[in-house]
Amino acid sequence: MSSKKPLNIGLVGYGFMGRTHTNGYKRVNDFFPELAYRPVLKAVCGRSAEGTQAFADQWGYESIETDWRKLIERKDIDAIDICTPNNSHAEIAIAAAKAGKMILCEKPLSMNTAEGHKMVEAVESAGVLNTVWYNYRRVPAVTLAKKLIDEGRLGKVFHYRANFLQDWTINADLPQGGTALWRLDAAAAGSGVTGDLLAHCIDTALWLNGSISDVSAMTETFVKERTHTLTGKVEKVSIDDACAFLCHFSNGSLGLFESTRYARGHKALYTLEINGENASIRWDLHDLHRLEYFDYKDEGQIRGWKSIHVTDGDHPYMKHWWVPGLQIGYEHTFVHQVADFLANVEHGKSTSPTFREALETQAVCDAVLASAKGRSWEDVKV
Ligand SMILES: NC(=O)c1ccc[n+]([C@@H]2O[C@H](COP(=O)([O-])OP(=O)(O)OC[C@H]3O[C@@H](n4cnc5c(N)ncnc54)[C@H](O)[C@@H]3O)[C@@H](O)[C@H]2O)c1
Repeated sequence: MSSKKPLNIGLVGYGFMGRTHTNGYKRVNDFFPELAYRPVLKAVCGRSAEGTQAFADQWGYESIETDWRKLIERKDIDAIDICTPNNSHAEIAIAAAKAGKMILCEKPLSMNTAEGHKMVEAVESAGVLNTVWYNYRRVPAVTLAKKLIDEGRLGKVFHYRANFLQDWTINADLPQGGTALWRLDAAAAGSGVTGDLLAHCIDTALWLNGSISDVSAMTETFVKERTHTLTGKVEKVSIDDACAFLCHFSNGSLGLFESTRYARGHKALYTLEINGENASIRWDLHDLHRLEYFDYKDEGQIRGWKSIHVTDGDHPYMKHWWVPGLQIGYEHTFVHQVADFLANVEHGKSTSPTFREALETQAVCDAVLASAKGRSWEDVKV
């Protein structure tokens, strides 16, 4: 028997994120043996009993539910993990907070800032521990970037640049809505690439470079109508297929962000670059274990971009994995978030980004969408 304290997980939604999180719960104690808590795969909730049972059998959940309200009522569940499409985050999170459950919620926090405020109010008034799965913060190379910035190595920051490029919706025959394509349906997703992809870039940017004060954006919906999977009818597409925005950060630097699902050849190209007075940093999700670093202080004849292979024992999170030189990948970012969450549970603390912190990303997304609609500069109002 394990001497660790059990933390009973109730997972809602067992798609892509349901799998990454469950993998995190299963792996965490093997690689982070110091943790006092052990996640227990107590129950998974989906809408069809057959599919949910198949997932439970495959991944090792003890029981299933087909209504998330029943899951939340259960006394044997400590934490609710929300892995459903965006339009259900608020309802599930607010009910879970009222029931006194800890909450791990997928991003984006909410459909918009107003809804996000209600979620923040719910978790804070119930005093329940919470986190939002902006997992890219926990790529060791990105965490290292944060450390280098906090050490003051960049000096004054002038520029922050980020892209998140995909190409999977170019086909105009692709329908919108329903289980697999809810991202194309504004009623389920809230927005298109802004809430789906740029939200990640914005969360990382706020973390690395501080708050954003105002934005000027443009969006485009390249395919204006698509058949809706649920109604069978051709309907207007209301999501943004592409979005680009400029912004001012409160530290005086300028931001440039772009995201699209129409960049032929790109599957998930998330890149960021920060240019400071003394040094610059660059990172690319397709090469996620490397951090590129340019230091102007280096001697002139050997000055240049360094490619730091972030796999050494003194790099963030890496002492928990293999030996120096051997890299880890995407799924480990979720193991890291579970590890940080469990460590913070011991101290009664929520894990960054908390609901309140993720609300700021939501406010930037709202300002971006308002700016594109009104062709105006918009202040970010949390
Ligand atoms: N952190 C990340 O990098 C990341 C990546 C992908 C998705 N996400 C977020 O995770 C969430 C889920 O995305 P996904 O890619 O896993 O989607 P998905 O479509 O693969 O899975 C969603 C699951 O939710 C289920 N579901 C829908 N309504 C439900 C309900 N009322 N009760 C129970 N189950 C329900 C669906 O059947 C499906 O199993 C979204 O909010 C998305 O933005 C985050």
